[in-house]
Amino acid sequence: MSETTPTRLPRILSGIQPSGQLTIGNYLGALKQWVQLQSDYDCYYCIVDMHAITVPQDPNELREGTRRNAALYLACGIQLEHATIFVQSHVSAHAELGWILGCFTPMGWLNRMTQFKDKAAKQQAESVSAGLYTYPTLMAADILLYQANLVPVGDDQRQHLELTRDLAQRFNSQYGETFTIPEGFFPKAGARIMGLDNPLAKMSKSDPSEYHAVYMLDEPDRIRKKIMRAVTDSGSGIYFTDDPAKAGVNNLLTIYQAFTDETTEAIEARFAGKGYGDLKKAVAEVVVEGLRPIQQRYRELTADSGLIDEVLAQGAAKARLVANATLNAVRDRIGFLPALDRA
Ligand code: AMP
Ligand code: TRP
Repeated sequence: MSETTPTRLPRILSGIQPSGQLTIGNYLGALKQWVQLQSDYDCYYCIVDMHAITVPQDPNELREGTRRNAALYLACGIQLEHATIFVQSHVSAHAELGWILGCFTPMGWLNRMTQFKDKAAKQQAESVSAGLYTYPTLMAADILLYQANLVPVGDDQRQHLELTRDLAQRFNSQYGETFTIPEGFFPKAGARIMGLDNPLAKMSKSDPSEYHAVYMLDEPDRIRKKIMRAVTDSGSGIYFTDDPAKAGVNNLLTIYQAFTDETTEAIEARFAGKGYGDLKKAVAEVVVEGLRPIQQRYRELTADSGLIDEVLAQGAAKARLVANATLNAVRDRIGFLPALDRA
């Protein structure tokens, strides 16, 4: 490349649904990575409200959740000099490319998606929406519109990312190079945080039970109470393990590690000979202290009522430029007639 060619940083795209309160699973599996990676990439961090409506949402809560997610992205340390923060429904190219990709996706691929099966199983069969089924094609559109090189997500999104890559490869081989093939980025510790009340199920922001998840905006005493009540086992050893019988202890250690970035050996040495009560107290403190500055910044950001909407308006304008360039190329490749009034 010649010296005068401006070099573009590789791109990141990721998103979180504005349904319910963000949990420490969202923080450790996604947001913490977003912050760490941001200065080496041109980042697009989305609030995926169109994904949220694949299951029923209360309109006021959805609006509130959308602004709350945006404020939490900033409160975690996402900086606008590195990242564009925007709302998915503000950029209509997502809906349009989602439809187009849906037409290129064999149903057999969608039938294999385990997240669909899990989410559908939680609802009455007749009320499961077609949108929940085609959700992965919208996620593929989110990623491919920005020509993203890297997609930092938790472990549960691996299958969706594979489908995105398969779709992009298929489209490129049929129509010529159009999409960048994205790589997934999964955190070493914290890729999969489990429920405190049931360490065999993923911690989820939509689980109704009170002692299931620690939310990012929980008060310190609430966090302590939830962690002290976490399900463990009747044994005693404190070490990292795949043994499902000790999934509760393993989950607490994983949370401890993701918040402290200490090595496995250092953590096991710290808790050698200690009881589960000591472990829980220590985990509660690292979570409380890890969230404290984020919560403080969240309060500051939301004290100014117009700030978040302003950030989102600027984000949408920037995102549209990138997304529409890709969408125009796709329209042309597949044979849609150019709309001359669109200029
Ligand atoms: P969602 O809550 O499904 O919108 O997920 C948003 C992001 O958080 C995705 O990257 C997920 O992989 C990640 N995430 C959600 N729950 C967890 C969890 N329990 N452990 C790790 N990552 C998670
Ligand atoms: N499906 C993701 C989840 O439930 C959210 C999501 C939607 C996403 N679009 C995305 C994540 C694009 C990464 C990139 O967690």
